[in-house]
Amino acid sequence: MENILNKAESSHSLTKEHIISLLSTSEFDNTIFNIANNVRKKYIGDKIHLRGLIEFSNICPNTCFYCGLRGENTSIKRFTLSKDLIIKSAKNAAKYGYKTIVLQSGESKVISDEELCSIISEIKKLDMAITLSIGEKTEEEYKSYKEAGADRFLLRIETTDKELYKKYHPKMNFENRVNCLKILKQLGYEVGTGCLVGLPEQTVKSLADDILFFKEIGADMVGLGPFIPCPHTPLENTGIKNHFVLALKVMAITRILLPDINIPATTAMESLQKGGAFLALNSGANVIMPNVSLYEERENYQIYPNKFIASNDVKTYRENLETELAKIGRFVSKDKGFRAENK
Ligand code: 5AD
Repeated sequence: MENILNKAESSHSLTKEHIISLLSTSEFDNTIFNIANNVRKKYIGDKIHLRGLIEFSNICPNTCFYCGLRGENTSIKRFTLSKDLIIKSAKNAAKYGYKTIVLQSGESKVISDEELCSIISEIKKLDMAITLSIGEKTEEEYKSYKEAGADRFLLRIETTDKELYKKYHPKMNFENRVNCLKILKQLGYEVGTGCLVGLPEQTVKSLADDILFFKEIGADMVGLGPFIPCPHTPLENTGIKNHFVLALKVMAITRILLPDINIPATTAMESLQKGGAFLALNSGANVIMPNVSLYEERENYQIYPNKFIASNDVKTYRENLETELAKIGRFVSKDKGFRAENK
């Protein structure tokens, strides 16, 4: 297996059987993490891309079994940020050197497409890239956001196990989600996808399928996080196990197979294990997505409990981050961080 891994460092390929074997034992974990780190260093270098995240609404019609924002959860306060606050937050982030804004929300249409497009074009005037993470829309809608200036889109497949997908997303349709990813690619977005790691009943075989799916769909970005049971959801009492290492491993294998893509050290990793984001940065990740919203209600965006919430002070967080990154030989990139630039 060590041999196979060493070959994969330059061939960037592994069979499904090999991936399953690697996910089934902890014997090769350190080798996997080291190789993923080497691949990241070779293709991307030591720069880190910061993506300034604005969670602008937590209103969602879907009922995903794992997610705290699910429509049927009446225990959270729902909010939608005003256009003014979104723009103000983006301007503030620009001041501290952010080159990308990620606009994320639940899947409800809380603001009209017209308003969203005008927010996109306002932010583009700041010379920033824009990533949307707002769920499944029609081709026309995706097209209009693209024309307004959106550059990238995040839409996690969550799991490629169709049975499990159906079970945990009663109101949704797997084929439609895959189709959305294909449309986004065709429209010229840089496309991000990803999955949850450690969902009840999820198998290592299906995780191997997830990784191969990222490659097949041509993902430019892959976000992976451990499943964290969330109160007021159907899965709240499941999963006593901590899936941090498994998530890290799925991420590292993804890096080995997709050497030049952008991979974030996700908030779920940091939430589950303090210092988890930095471990991820040393195991294949090259992106951090700090929250840059200028509002006091971040605690209402609780996708899962104890979600790591960075300091509300964008400036202090940014300065501290720089210092911490320097300690592991990394630095914040000054460019927009498109995948194309990694090639
Ligand atoms: N644990 C970890 N990640 C979660 N997400 C939703 N609920 C949870 C949870 N309980 C992830 C989903 C979604 C992303 C925004 O958050 O993968 O795509």
